[in-house]
Amino acid sequence: MAPVIRIRAPLLLGVALALAACGAPQRRATGATRCLDCHAVHHAEAGSCVSCHRGDAGATRPALAHRGLLNGALAAHAWPQGEVVTRGRALIALAACRRCHTIGGEGQTVAAALDRVAWSRDPAALRASIREPVDNMPDFGFAAREADTVIAALLSLAPPATADPSYRVWFTADAEGEPGAFERHCGGCHRLLTADGPLGVSAAGPNLSGLFSPFHPKTAAHDRAWRPEELRRWLDNPRAVRPATPMPRPILQPAEVDEILTTLGAPTPTGR
Ligand code: HEC
Ligand code: HEC
Ligand code: HEC
Ligand code: HEC
Repeated sequence: MAPVIRIRAPLLLGVALALAACGAPQRRATGATRCLDCHAVHHAEAGSCVSCHRGDAGATRPALAHRGLLNGALAAHAWPQGEVVTRGRALIALAACRRCHTIGGEGQTVAAALDRVAWSRDPAALRASIREPVDNMPDFGFAAREADTVIAALLSLAPPATADPSYRVWFTADAEGEPGAFERHCGGCHRLLTADGPLGVSAAGPNLSGLFSPFHPKTAAHDRAWRPEELRRWLDNPRAVRPATPMPRPILQPAEVDEILTTLGAPTPTGR
């Protein structure tokens, strides 16, 4: 294995070589890292190798030292106000991840709390979750680089102390029981995550999770959180609201409208 010395900070190279010359027991005693066996020091003013890149600082073999490694693109999490994290946060807001996930302690809780996930999953697993999402998560079509800025932002927003490797959320089956009004009239085109499980089978229309929450994505056609009266008008006749909308007018009994609003988590007048 040829050692890799990247001369990014020539002034610090001497430090790296000096540390590399130390014996192993002494190195452990001073808390220094085996990363320096093979790499030069850089960004030392901003943290330790593992605070930015993770990995195992005591391991001498790359495969072990690099376990769970965050590469340079993801290590940008160390600069919360930096360009990469800022871009990642903008994508998180645009995609409205928080209509389903909690991030930085903010958001709905119908899918995994990403605070508990960001620091406990392998980067490859996070990338796959974002780029090849499960049925009930929208496919945002992120390029690999975009997914990496999102992951860097998740890492910067989630306190590492909230990480929980044993945490899993499974959505295995649809909510049980007779199909409700949402499934009968809306689920053919829309998906919805509720506290009781996922509803709907197709992504022909937008995912309606968190429709009444402040986290539902704002579009040119609707640039604020939805209110119950607005949904009632919409269901009465979508084309009266948006003349060119592809959503057909649903045929609903008044009781079905009420049921659908409840299923969608509409705030009740008495609840406010
Ligand atoms: C025994 C030598 C060795 C040790 C110890 C070692 N590395 Fe590496 N590292 C390498 C080599 C060789 C490469 C380039 C080939 C590769 O990606 O595996 C590399 C690549 C990297 C990369 C770039 C990865 C990428 O995907 O672009 C990072 C970041 C990194 N190492 C960080 C660390 C950190 C942090 C530690 C300590 C926890 C560490 N390394 C320990 C040899 C080592
Ligand atoms: C404050 C955070 C931070 C610290 C501390 C840090 N790095 Fe990095 N590292 C980065 C970033 C960000 C990059 C991407 C290029 C850049 O900005 O320098 C990077 C790039 C690298 C690369 C090149 C691979 C790539 O993907 O670009 C290697 C190898 C690496 N770091 C290893 C280390 C080692 C070993 C240490 C400890 C001596 C260390 N880093 C300390 C943030 C850090
Ligand atoms: C409509 C709801 C919804 C939206 C919006 C959504 N997700 Fe998800 N996401 C899910 C569901 C459902 C799962 C799979 C079950 C679980 O882990 O909660 C999931 C899983 C994940 C996982 C894997 C969690 C784990 O346990 O490892 C990650 C990472 C993730 N989503 C990231 C994102 C990001 C980033 C965004 C925004 C760009 C986003 N999600 C938007 C519903 C959603
Ligand atoms: C035949 C497919 C279809 C059915 C059935 C359907 N929708 Fe839609 N819906 C759509 C499409 C497509 C859009 C996107 C329209 C647009 O952007 O103008 C949409 C948009 C919406 C929107 C606006 C979302 C937003 O963020 O702008 C809401 C709310 C909505 N539907 C609710 C419902 C409800 C509730 C039902 C069941 C009563 C339902 N839809 C039935 C296809 C459908």
